[in-house]
Amino acid sequence: MPFNVYVTRRIPEAGLEILRRHCDRVEVNPEDRVLSRDELLAAVRDRDGVLCLLTDTIDDETLAAAGPRCRAFANMAVGYNNVDLAAATRRGIMITNTPGVLTETTADLAWALMLAVARRVVEGDRFFRTGRWTGWGPMQFLGHDVHKTTLGIVGAGRIGTAVGRRSVGFGMRLLYTDPHPSGELDRIGARRVDLDTLLRESDFVTLHVALNERTHHLIGRRELALMKPTACLINTARGPIIDEAALVEALRERRIAGAGLDVYENEPEPAPGLVELDNVVCIPHLGSATEATRAKMATMAAENLVAALRGERPPNLVNLDVLAAQS
Ligand code: GLV
Repeated sequence: MPFNVYVTRRIPEAGLEILRRHCDRVEVNPEDRVLSRDELLAAVRDRDGVLCLLTDTIDDETLAAAGPRCRAFANMAVGYNNVDLAAATRRGIMITNTPGVLTETTADLAWALMLAVARRVVEGDRFFRTGRWTGWGPMQFLGHDVHKTTLGIVGAGRIGTAVGRRSVGFGMRLLYTDPHPSGELDRIGARRVDLDTLLRESDFVTLHVALNERTHHLIGRRELALMKPTACLINTARGPIIDEAALVEALRERRIAGAGLDVYENEPEPAPGLVELDNVVCIPHLGSATEATRAKMATMAAENLVAALRGERPPNLVNLDVLAAQS
C-alpha cells in the first residue's frame, strides 16, 4: 500500500515485518540512538505515520513537521507522557500505546528491584567482584526482610495489580492507593488507603501511576518524611513522579533505607549525588526489557499504526476524541 512510515529507532523485527508487509516505504533510523531534535523534525516530514518511542518528544512542532497527510504516531510504550495529546487531537493525528503486553514483565522488574534493594544484592555483587570478600561474616550486608512485611502500591492499574498479586507468595500485608477500588487487590485482602497512610505504614512503597500534572513530584520531601526509616521506595513508572533531589537527600541522610530505581527525572542523567549512594539500586529503564515483551510491544505498535493508516480505529487509540473531530 502506498504508505510511507518512519520508525524512530531500530525495534524488534516482528514489528518491522508488519510495517513492511503493509507499507510501501518503511524507513528506520539507521543509528541505534535517540534522534536529535532537528533529526526528528526532518525525519517525520511528509510521513503517513510514525512509530515512535518514549525517548522522542512528540509535541506540536513534531506533529506539525509530519505534515497534513500524517494519520498517526504509534508510541511503542504503555506510557505516553512524551506526546502532546491535545495537539495531536487538534491536528487530527491518532496516538496509540502498547498496554497490557508489558504488565507482567514490568511487575517482575519491580520485584527484582525490591528484593535487590532489601537484600543488598548489587552492593554484595560489587563487593565480591572487586575482590574485597575475605569470607562469610555474621555482620556482613545485613538487609531487610521482604516476606511478611507491608507492601504499599501507589496506583492499582494493570502493573500495580500485577505487583500486588505476586505479594501473596511472600505473605505480605498489602495496602494500595487509587481513585478506584481494585476488585482483584481487594480479593487478596488488600486495603485501599490514602497516600499518607500508605507511606507511613509500608515497608516497601512501589509506584505505578502514569505521569501527568497530578502525579509530577507526587513523592517529594514531605512524602519521603512520612516513610519509615526502614522502608524502601521502588520506581518502575516514570522518573518525575519522584522529586529526585529530595530522594537523594533522604537516602543520604538515611531517612529511608533504600530505593530501587528504573526511571529517572531527567533521563539519562541521574540527579547529582544519586550514583554515589550505596543504598540505591539504579538500572537503566528496563521495565519491559525482555525479548518476548519487546517483540510484543513492537508488534502491537505496528498493528496500531497499520490500522490507523487503513482508516480503521487502532486497537489502542489513546486520544479517542480525535475520532469525534474526524467524523
Ligand atoms: C515504558 O516505560 C513504557 O511506558 O512502556
